[in-house]
Amino acid sequence: MLHQYLKPLLSAAAISFAAAVLAEEPVKIGFVVEMTGPFADIGRQITNGARAYVKAHGDVVAGRKVELIIRDTTGMAPEVAKREAQELIVNDKVDFLAGFGLTPNALAAAPVATEGKKPMVIMNAATSIITARSPYIVRVSFTLPQVTAPLASWALNNGIKQVYTLVADYGPGIDAETQFKKTFTAGGGEIVGSVRTPANNPDFAPFLQRLKDAHPQAVFIFLPVGEQPTAFMKAFAERELDKAGIKLIATGDVTDDGVLEAMGDVPLGVVTTQHYSVAHDSSQNRAFLKAYADIASGRPNFAAVGGWDGMAAIYEVIKRLNGNIDGDKAMEVLKGMTIDSPRGTITIDPATRDVVQTIYVRRVEKLKDGKLYNVEFDKVLNVKDPGK
Ligand code: PHB
Repeated sequence: MLHQYLKPLLSAAAISFAAAVLAEEPVKIGFVVEMTGPFADIGRQITNGARAYVKAHGDVVAGRKVELIIRDTTGMAPEVAKREAQELIVNDKVDFLAGFGLTPNALAAAPVATEGKKPMVIMNAATSIITARSPYIVRVSFTLPQVTAPLASWALNNGIKQVYTLVADYGPGIDAETQFKKTFTAGGGEIVGSVRTPANNPDFAPFLQRLKDAHPQAVFIFLPVGEQPTAFMKAFAERELDKAGIKLIATGDVTDDGVLEAMGDVPLGVVTTQHYSVAHDSSQNRAFLKAYADIASGRPNFAAVGGWDGMAAIYEVIKRLNGNIDGDKAMEVLKGMTIDSPRGTITIDPATRDVVQTIYVRRVEKLKDGKLYNVEFDKVLNVKDPGK
């Protein structure tokens, strides 16, 4: 007779024990990011954005604590990124992989996500192909073709007929160059020259001399955010390409909010396209800027927004799965998700797991506070990666 009373007691105890264990064990998010080296700005922005999200929204979701584990790739270092992703899954037992500022690092970790069946949230890396490399990849940032096509259209509509292209010689640069040429020539524009600069530590001087000699109407540029756009702007002014009347148009990476204030007045008037500007006027952006200022100094940039939105996506998954994280179920939740981002609403295309969003056309202007901003003056709604 006794066991009839004991059994429910035991199972109740077992359940509460399991619940306690679940509550004790945090949901772990393993970041693979560029925290040192020439691309350190990207990792710093991504992790600051993610930390700001956690600070603003609390670190307990569906009864489980959220823990961020940060691993530094030290730069463009695919082998390091791959090893770190493996260690995060095997040793740290993370539930999600996240971060990934640079394309080569994301590509190297893709098979690890597949093997470990862990969702991998791309918070910046922007080469189109990345999401096709694993069914566990989802991207909340952008793709280069997605921001470049609207810029080529803008140029065509604004009297620019001849363009020289200059891009960093790796995935995102090649994507940008290819898309610019495609859209621009399809609309009747002419490409008068193209150069690709080294992905790591380029010296822009010889490339700028060739550009000056070609004397195009405009130059289209993509360079990875951080040190390179600042060095480029300096060299552009030193060689007086601006004074030679060569118009500069670029993806927003080049007039990045995070370093725009360090560029002097050189970028004034430069038109770019991108998904985020600090000057974006919305209550969501104001809340983001406030939360960011609580944990870091300086301006956030689009990579910080990637970190913030990536965490928003992960929080939503934890909530929807009621704290019981499973890689395959997490991917089902992520597909088709809508996120109320500081840049405007974004959605994850369920077919490609890539981001669909508004792309803004902006001009660098000096605002009342005497500082430079990317001021949005036009936009294209619901832009998909054109290759998808
Ligand atoms: C990339 O490596 O995919 C990347 C890096 C920096 C950017 C954009 C894309 O600004």
